[in-house]
Amino acid sequence: MVSPVRGALAARFALGYSPAVITPIVAIDGPAGAGKSTVARQLARRLGFTMIDTGAIYRSVALAARRGGVAWDDDAGLGKLLDGGLGLVFREERVILRDHDVTEAIRTPEISRGASVVSARPVVRERLLGLQRELGLSAARGAVLEGRDIGTIVFPEAQVKFFLTASDEARAQRRYAELSEKGIAVNLTDVLADQRSRDKDDSERTIAPLRAAPDAIRVDTTGIDLDTVVERCFQEASARLQQLRQA
Ligand code: DC
Repeated sequence: MVSPVRGALAARFALGYSPAVITPIVAIDGPAGAGKSTVARQLARRLGFTMIDTGAIYRSVALAARRGGVAWDDDAGLGKLLDGGLGLVFREERVILRDHDVTEAIRTPEISRGASVVSARPVVRERLLGLQRELGLSAARGAVLEGRDIGTIVFPEAQVKFFLTASDEARAQRRYAELSEKGIAVNLTDVLADQRSRDKDDSERTIAPLRAAPDAIRVDTTGIDLDTVVERCFQEASARLQQLRQA
């Protein structure tokens, strides 16, 4: 069977494109709260690329399962749910699942836990791999994908890879501020405990655990203003993409 990525690449070669003009991919991986979303969004904007939040895809699976009465660890049920396609569309900064705007609904602490559970199921990861690759390769000018395994599994051939980290406390503080700003009532201690438990699950699972790719640029964002991080990533990414264009 031809994988979706091979299929997409083959189609481009058939159209006469050379490998040098294949959609540029920037991978941003790291644990929750390291600033990935903000950095990915702003970096994509500055590069003129499409931003793809892959965590939102796993969150949407958790929400679709909850709404469909499928347990988060029911592999057969999850497989069936995904067989018909997830029905997920990113429209501007909104996430639309089966014609419903779920942008806020996928951000609750309950769905965060569900996303962590479903993301450890091989049946889910396998089915979402092709979708993530297609979203990346079909971006008009290039794509910035943020997640946990973009530089290692989804796009090991990405032209630019960043791995963002920060201390536990700094990450929990950011997540807390983000949730409070959205009007979601939480307390910092719970956010920190929840984050530690999800970090443990995400890095200890056997399939696609959270790991930095060997060729990723590591950025510790503890105590650094995210605008400064964006500027640094932008400089690095532009320089690398420029080099590749000239190669
Ligand atoms: O980044 P986030 O918190 O929105 O991600 C939600 C969950 O999905 C989190 O538990 C990690 C998981 N995830 C993953 O396993 N692989 C990805 N590429 C993105 C997210």
